[in-house]
Amino acid sequence: MCGIVGYVGSRPCKELLLHGLERLEYRGYDSAGICLMNGQVDIVRRVGKVSALREAVGTSAHPATMGLAHTRWATHGGVIESNAHPIEACEGSGVTVVHNGIIENYATLRRELSAAGHEYHSDTDSEVIAHLIEECYSGDLVEAVRAAYARLDGHFAFAAAHRESPGVLVAARRGCPLVVGVVEGEMFMASAIPAFLSQTRKVQYVHDDEIVVARPGGATFLSGDGAVIDRGVDEVDWDEEAAEKQGYETFMLKEIEEQPDAIAETIGERLYRGRLQLDGLQLSDQQIRDLSRVVFLACGTSYHAGLVGRYVLEEWARIPSESDIASEWRYRHAVIDERTLVIAVAQSGETIDTLAAMKEARARGAHVLAVTNVMGSQMTRECDSVLYTRAGLEIGVAATKTFTAQVTLMYLLALRLGLIRGTIDATRARALLEQVRGLPDLARRTLGRRHVVEPIADRYFRNEFFLYLGRNMGLPIALEGALKLKEISYIATDAYAAGEMKHGPIALLEEGTPVVVIATDSHVYEKVVSNLEEVRARGAHVIAVATEGNEAIRELAEHVLYLPRTEPELQAALAVLPLQQLAYAIATRRGLDVDKPRNLAKTVTVE
Ligand code: M6R
Repeated sequence: MCGIVGYVGSRPCKELLLHGLERLEYRGYDSAGICLMNGQVDIVRRVGKVSALREAVGTSAHPATMGLAHTRWATHGGVIESNAHPIEACEGSGVTVVHNGIIENYATLRRELSAAGHEYHSDTDSEVIAHLIEECYSGDLVEAVRAAYARLDGHFAFAAAHRESPGVLVAARRGCPLVVGVVEGEMFMASAIPAFLSQTRKVQYVHDDEIVVARPGGATFLSGDGAVIDRGVDEVDWDEEAAEKQGYETFMLKEIEEQPDAIAETIGERLYRGRLQLDGLQLSDQQIRDLSRVVFLACGTSYHAGLVGRYVLEEWARIPSESDIASEWRYRHAVIDERTLVIAVAQSGETIDTLAAMKEARARGAHVLAVTNVMGSQMTRECDSVLYTRAGLEIGVAATKTFTAQVTLMYLLALRLGLIRGTIDATRARALLEQVRGLPDLARRTLGRRHVVEPIADRYFRNEFFLYLGRNMGLPIALEGALKLKEISYIATDAYAAGEMKHGPIALLEEGTPVVVIATDSHVYEKVVSNLEEVRARGAHVIAVATEGNEAIRELAEHVLYLPRTEPELQAALAVLPLQQLAYAIATRRGLDVDKPRNLAKTVTVE
């Protein structure tokens, strides 16, 4: 949540910072601000998206070659201009900061600094950082940041500048992401790489509890006690083009369409000539055979991918598996041990609850495998093993291609573990792998039926409630379909295990209530049909997701969204596609900004 961008170098940086903010807007978009420094400090802040800030700063050139910028997702203090960043300490102090995360002891610090004469201009927790730096400053910004940092509790990343320290930006992190972009003679710092991807692919990752001092000639990394840390330069293989809409009306639509490639890339060389290899999984065959349990931990869409993982791991690898919401699990006294494999799933690799759950799991002796889409993200440093999904950059706040990539990885993982444990015979595994290899094509075909989804959206986009039902592997897809619709269209949705409908949700059904039912071919198909009949009997309208060739379902449903035939388990990766398209089509008919739904942020770095 919140995006930070900083630049120090020799070029006028106003446009570089604004462009960086636009790239980070997915992290929060309540308000935005920029601070340009060239002997004097020019700060502009605006409520609203970066476009409002851009309009406010205008198109005229500004000579500043150093600056900070911020896009906000409010935690402490309402969405008003005085709470937007960059935030200054006392008037005339010259100290400016941008901050992401939460300062947990801000109230105590605020009282203490107020008593020492500091005057506050905002309701944010962030402002105490600026005043603390001002209080600790005696001519050396690095020392002031180090001293201030030592007094802060919570999880955060912040960057600071001082009018009297030209050519120096100082930043620190504890729990929130921060990365440096390296160009000869200039340095960027940001919450995420897309902020400077148009300028460089060379990056230096800032680790937790580190302070980084950026000057045009390079960055110096320091530990909290001031010791210099050696940090290499990595090169990422993302390109700027990926961060553009490339002719699509929205990022979300582009990302929905990119799913065949996301699946294909995630399979990649892991499946070669019928052999399945998962480099990155640091468990010996014996350790895999000895596993007593698998626990998936994640939030939001990634939690739904973990639910799919649970089904396939039980089915193919015969390991007792469960899936839990990270923010719940971390406060349970869950029973795990050295024979438990914990699989933490997160697109961003930075979700605070998932990170905390991982820490907890490792402390209790489990082997923790991270599944993430972002190389070098915090998760990859706090795990025992890591497997990357390769969906490419996802900018739309609603997860789409990262979900199908996660589900694909679940298939590969379950098959690999099943083969090692001898719970799936080689012929069946070969057949399944063959079908997995065919998933990108099947996904392409499924997405090609968008014209079937459009009239359904036309008919129901004014409805204020949708129910989603599924059983077995259809349940996580129902949950994900419902989440997509509610987050981008603001329509209330409920998603239920179809067998549970009679235990309560059936009371919600009225004449014409749209009910999306995952009714793909599987061993629970007949059971789903019974539930579907119950829905129809109450006058509700069924939108069924079914397998090609199932003509009988046309008699039972108002609308049918067909999927190409494949193995029942693999249909999960396809069944979600028309549901994403439906959510998209409904939200756009309601005139909403699907890439930046209200109140949300793509990366959730606060509890
Ligand atoms: O980065 P993560 O996968 O951990 O993110 C988890 C959730 O915040 C995320 O899936 C969220 O629910 C999305 N808005 C779903 O579209």
